[in-house]
Amino acid sequence: MRLTNLTSESQNPVLSGALPKAMDALEDQERLDGLAGAVRKAVRAIPLGRKRDVLRGLWLGHPLHPVLVQVPIGAWTCAGILDLFPGESRAARRLVAVGLAAAGPAALAGWVDWAEQRPRQARVGLVHAAANLVAVTVYAGSLAARIKGRPMLGRALGFGGMTVATVGGVLGGHLAYRQGAGVNHAEAVSVLVEPGWHRIGVPEDFPFGEPVRRMADEVAVVVVRADDGRFYALADRCSHMDGPLHEGKVLEGCLECPWHGSAFRLSDGVNVQGPATAPQPTFDCRISPDGQVEIRLEQT
Ligand code: FES
Repeated sequence: MRLTNLTSESQNPVLSGALPKAMDALEDQERLDGLAGAVRKAVRAIPLGRKRDVLRGLWLGHPLHPVLVQVPIGAWTCAGILDLFPGESRAARRLVAVGLAAAGPAALAGWVDWAEQRPRQARVGLVHAAANLVAVTVYAGSLAARIKGRPMLGRALGFGGMTVATVGGVLGGHLAYRQGAGVNHAEAVSVLVEPGWHRIGVPEDFPFGEPVRRMADEVAVVVVRADDGRFYALADRCSHMDGPLHEGKVLEGCLECPWHGSAFRLSDGVNVQGPATAPQPTFDCRISPDGQVEIRLEQT
């Protein structure tokens, strides 16, 4: 009986997984790479300075883009609901305008995140952005029609814009939840390392000022012996996108990731420079009575 149900489900275009397969096919579209490269170069060239880290969400602890998109999506959704009722055209028009005004900052934050993504993520992100650009254009047409006193056309374009924005939202969901763009890649460290002290060598194994990779259970750890002899240890895989921190540089009390330049303070793992929005897990360090370097997950 159960097998019969599964067979009939496999013929249903939604339950058969056709949508995830289409998304996977989009990830494979290498023909998008040329365009992605040109756009990436342009986004990185925008002179944002420290505002780039603000847009990334460094101050928030996770990407800012999904927070900012709440405004246009919420305003447009409310406009769509009001469009279903008579006498609400003025409020709906205002909400469409609010959504359009809020779309710019949300898009800028998204592009800044996108510029550091892997090729497969960047392909999906490019189509996600294109869908949202179409949605904004259609909503701009909707607003123009409402202002010119053509409410029916304004409503029709509004529902069209909502449909396209939903496609953009589905692509954004795939990017975040399936492809892991913007997530904290060091989150699992605290559950993968057994409590207690782990021996990782003797002090002479660690040259002053040079990051050295060691293992604590299943977790790679980067250890730095500072010039004053103190030991510091952080999870080795960068919270941004798994970059190998032991291949990075020690600069002014921080360890800089070799992949996209995030900088983590050695003393507490705080991400003082993006694109990483999450800090790096840290370990307590000590020299045991018999002269071994030992580390354990930092006690909170
Ligand atoms: S992997 Fe991107 S900054 Fe480390």
